[in-house]
Amino acid sequence: MDYKKMDKERLIEEKESVFRKINEFKALGIKLNMSRGIPNPRVIDITAKKFSGIDVYTSRIHKDNADLGTYNQSLLAGIREAREFFAEILDVGIENIIIGGNSSLNLMFDMFSQLMLHGNFESERPWCREDRVKFLCPVPGYDRHFAICEYMGIDMISVPMTEQGPDMDAVESLACSDSSIKGIWCVPMYSNPDGCIYSENTVRRLAAMKTAAADFRIFWDNAYSMHHLFENEEKCVLNILEECMKAGNPSRPYIFSSTSKISMPGSGISAIAASTDNVRDILSRMKYQTIGYDKMNMIRHTIAFPDRASVSRHMKKIADILRPNFEVTISTLERELGGLGIAGWSCPSGGYFISFNAMEGCASRIIGLCAEAGVVLTPAGSTFPYGVDPLDSNIRIAPTYPSYDEMKMAAEIFCACVKYAVLEKMTAGGRDD
Ligand SMILES: Cc1ncc(COP(=O)(O)O)c(C=O)c1O
Repeated sequence: MDYKKMDKERLIEEKESVFRKINEFKALGIKLNMSRGIPNPRVIDITAKKFSGIDVYTSRIHKDNADLGTYNQSLLAGIREAREFFAEILDVGIENIIIGGNSSLNLMFDMFSQLMLHGNFESERPWCREDRVKFLCPVPGYDRHFAICEYMGIDMISVPMTEQGPDMDAVESLACSDSSIKGIWCVPMYSNPDGCIYSENTVRRLAAMKTAAADFRIFWDNAYSMHHLFENEEKCVLNILEECMKAGNPSRPYIFSSTSKISMPGSGISAIAASTDNVRDILSRMKYQTIGYDKMNMIRHTIAFPDRASVSRHMKKIADILRPNFEVTISTLERELGGLGIAGWSCPSGGYFISFNAMEGCASRIIGLCAEAGVVLTPAGSTFPYGVDPLDSNIRIAPTYPSYDEMKMAAEIFCACVKYAVLEKMTAGGRDD
């Protein structure tokens, strides 16, 4: 029954009953850390099996006809096999690909560092020489994106997410009116945390919109392009590079991707896809940084995953492990909270997260209550710039790490904590604990 329709006496009774339930959970002594989106050990085991036995050392000569066991500056953009791999995954030409190291986040951070120090080939001056640099940040979003901007001293402007992607009316009007706005963060497929897939219209508008800054860039973080949970619902997002080319803005997007959640987080390979002008620009700086990233890991990955189809087969096995965790979370939310009128949540068909919106002013308290009951969640506010959710409402649930039984229990604890925090607010009384 809708809590808002209950009288105060009934709400207090309900609060007392939920309080007893939370204490029962506490007595179980659960300890579960769900603060980050990491795969559970069964997923890692599948990948480990796939990689075990791959020998990259005996035969080190591959398509580039060079010994991958030594320095080779001509392979600065990565070995051919790895560039072909990401070209197929991201649906771009091999000439548009640069392979990085074990983390796409590292490439994003590095890109900002370079832009601050030198700008890009369309910049009048390094970004650090501008009076201000601002970035558009669709919210809720990925905390590590926001952390990079904060660290670099870039002002973040929040833009609300819709079911189609960022609110494009807001994005367009901001981007065309302020030349200090240099770009936008985007997670176009199964966004973190909403699980949103940008609509075709959104992608086209991002590609074609007028920007006051000539050197405006879209940081297109395509971390979850292959991470479908349901086989019959495999979605895809419109090709941003192609759309930007059609719109006459070929160098607007920097596309980032990695195999972190395909092979092993922290030990995968990453890539940037961009226009050939951007590729040239990036390599002109990268050559001072490195003679090239880990070629052995590149070849190891392309032996394990010779093509996109092999990734799809592998991702289906991973989805079979992760899907039940998402399903049990959603069904528990529906059973426990549905119809109470106190919260809403996303039902993603892929990616790593469920985005939960509690009654305003309750998220921090819910997360605190969960921690007391042994379930650690991503801190409140993390999905917003500067770690501040103005409504104190959004919570990122990361169901991928726990085992199924742990997730089932964590979802029940979570729902009890949501109810208690809301009831506490509605009854505005003192706490029972
Ligand atoms: C949207 C998004 N981008 C990037 C990353 C990190 O990727 P990588 O391991 O390639 O640095 C994550 C990890 O959670 C993510 O959610």
